[in-house]
Amino acid sequence: MNTRLTILCENSVGPISGTLGEHGFSVLVEWDGGSLLWDTGQGLTLLHNAQRMNKNLHQVRQVALSHGHYDHAGGLLPLLRSCGPKQVFGHPGLFTPRYRVNDRGEPLAIGMPYPRDYLEGQGATFDLAEGFRAIAPHLFLTGTIPRVSGFETGDQGLFTDRCGCRRDQFPDDQSLVIDGDNGLLILLGCCHAGLINTLQHVATQTGRTDIHTVIGGTHLGFCSSQQLEQTIQRLGQWQIQRLAVSHCTGFSAAARLKQAFPANFQTAHVGYTLTH
Ligand SMILES: [Fe+2]
Ligand SMILES: [Fe+2]
Repeated sequence: MNTRLTILCENSVGPISGTLGEHGFSVLVEWDGGSLLWDTGQGLTLLHNAQRMNKNLHQVRQVALSHGHYDHAGGLLPLLRSCGPKQVFGHPGLFTPRYRVNDRGEPLAIGMPYPRDYLEGQGATFDLAEGFRAIAPHLFLTGTIPRVSGFETGDQGLFTDRCGCRRDQFPDDQSLVIDGDNGLLILLGCCHAGLINTLQHVATQTGRTDIHTVIGGTHLGFCSSQQLEQTIQRLGQWQIQRLAVSHCTGFSAAARLKQAFPANFQTAHVGYTLTH
């Protein structure tokens, strides 16, 4: 199957004039006879950028959410209001309350900005499950990703309570897997589960190691330098042909990845497209 990916929301804009950036992520996945929206951004740029890129989101019937953070799920409400009802895939943990607590103990709510029943009233039909599953021809959701690498300790500032007592374990964090003509493509959201854990889980679930492309937010910009260096070391053991990073990867981690994998590295901003 030939699939086209187009980044609709991302922190930075690429070559298409008139598009806008926001802290968020959303990717339109299109194939012959269907399409799916992977994440929705935080809701400030999705409709504008889609229109600017001549993408008709009325025709998109399905949405999949990588996890319950506002910068991936906040665009769902404007999408439903402007473009009609959608089937929404995700994990049952999507609606967990979530906070970033800063070094002065101040909480900032960063979870799903709207309750489930309100979104259902606006036209969302949620299809939530924990496991690896097919959601369209050649498209799979990873479900909960087992933490096996040992070193991917993640972002230390994210919690499920306002006092910063309960670390967010992100059971809902997942990626989309596309079985394409060139092998497997893994489309990340924030990858809070860890990039190496995610690769290992996809290999285990599919019985395949031909992961051709990895694209999306890696969250390495919010993780320790030890995690970044160990990730780079372990990434080298996979034969990844294209590593296109976005969003929460951040400038410094992206520069380090470019240095480590100069031939295969790309940055994927608003307007970036690839076929797979
Ligand atoms: Fe994010
Ligand atoms: Fe996130």
